[in-house]
Amino acid sequence: MTSFDLSQDIFDKTAYENAVKHLRDARVVLPTFAELADPTSIASSIMAAADGISADEPHSANLYRVHWYNDENRSALTDVPGYIVLDEALTGVAAPIIVVLGGRFPMIGAHKVLPAYACLVTRIVSGQFDPTRHRAIWPSTGNYCRGGVAISRILGCRGVAVLPAGMSQERFDWLEDWVTEPADIVRTPGSESNVKEIYDKCAELSADSSNVILNQFSEYANYLAHYRCTGRALESVFMSLKEQRADLSLAAFVAGTGSAGTMAAGDYLKTIFGSQVVAVEPIECPTMLYNGYGEHNIQGIGDKHIPLIQNIMNTDIVVGVSDESSDHLNVLFNSGVGREYLTGRRGLDPKTVENLTVLGLSGIANVLAAIKTARLLDLGADDAVITVATDSAALYVSERERTEKTDFPNGFDQVSAGEVYARHMLGQGKEHMLEMTHQERRRVFNLGYYTWVEQQGVTLEDFEKRRDQRFWDGLQNTLPVWDAMIEEFNGHVGVNRPG
Ligand SMILES: Cc1ncc(COP(=O)(O)O)c(C=O)c1O
Repeated sequence: MTSFDLSQDIFDKTAYENAVKHLRDARVVLPTFAELADPTSIASSIMAAADGISADEPHSANLYRVHWYNDENRSALTDVPGYIVLDEALTGVAAPIIVVLGGRFPMIGAHKVLPAYACLVTRIVSGQFDPTRHRAIWPSTGNYCRGGVAISRILGCRGVAVLPAGMSQERFDWLEDWVTEPADIVRTPGSESNVKEIYDKCAELSADSSNVILNQFSEYANYLAHYRCTGRALESVFMSLKEQRADLSLAAFVAGTGSAGTMAAGDYLKTIFGSQVVAVEPIECPTMLYNGYGEHNIQGIGDKHIPLIQNIMNTDIVVGVSDESSDHLNVLFNSGVGREYLTGRRGLDPKTVENLTVLGLSGIANVLAAIKTARLLDLGADDAVITVATDSAALYVSERERTEKTDFPNGFDQVSAGEVYARHMLGQGKEHMLEMTHQERRRVFNLGYYTWVEQQGVTLEDFEKRRDQRFWDGLQNTLPVWDAMIEEFNGHVGVNRPG
């Protein structure tokens, strides 16, 4: 069995039994995907068990908070996931841009804890991960590995974060607090776009059979968790807005592609609303647009390769955004001078401006790509574009300080604020955008061959079958099977659900 299989059988009975006993001792019950997609289906006794437990503690109750429906304090459920709507006064385009907030996820303040849980739980309930002897290896550019370390810690097993040394200091500070041993933080050369170096390190680590690589870029659990949980969450946000504005239609879903797990929500929304699927990448590393390469700082959307779980043949538009834009707007949105400019000179509502802290660097890039999409498609006030803020500005304070020092050596003043806003927000045009024809989709799809077939050992057949939408549709049959396996596993663990 390889990591590219959709495990639906028990692979190793001993590993399975060890996991059952281990989680019984740790008193852990595992949530199903159905529960994480619709947390109102979680038993009230379980919800009550989380009362008084901080969302940032490594506590088993927090497994049941690995969803989009946490309230602002991340303690109780909301009917509709947290979101903000950015309007023309800020963006310069009539189409409302809906941003759904990943910062409300527990422990790491980013939605990447959801795919981390998905990738590990499917291994555990199929006897492919023995928490008493395996180490979970989490290759990432920073948030997925933090999610993985958090989940590993709750399950009482070793979790190893593999990430480029050049990622934000806040990621490393968090990891240092959470790993079991300092050796569980493995720094690879480079920064955001050096994903190949992460793979190389994982190949080296996999020589030790106690290391299990949970490769988000090729695990369909990542795709499926986002399809079901993120897709449904975004649907409920849009439907709640539509209750207030009956004429609103959903024109597009926009997201940056790291592992491309989040993109699965676009596939889901397209089936319901017919909305377009828009993939975002940095202009400084334009892999999908131009077969390009390079360094960039839109942390989270590593590039120079096409993830195995990216459904390229269903992608409608590719948008390039510059990391200069995300870096500079990070300064504008999060500095006193920048906020004064936006509220004073531009007359924006102070609440809207305050809310911009929900955007991390990739969230800013997503908003800019949404603006460009609105321009390209001539969207009007009744055509919404939906996107996510995977994490928030809290993870990039050090990046803001660095940008201020290097790019605004004489200080970031009102003139700088005006220039940044005019150039990087209002000035977003239709450049570096590609409406995907069948031929373009084939070109980008084919790029994946070099990573997956030549370097990572995926069979040509497994690679090729992903061209066909029926393959992706068929994946949906896996989730109910996995949920039944989780239920059965919980039954063996036999821990009364908390409460
Ligand atoms: C901050 C941030 N933004 C965007 C992404 C991309 O999300 P995905 O991996 O689902 O494509 C990631 C992934 O790690 C991330 O950490």
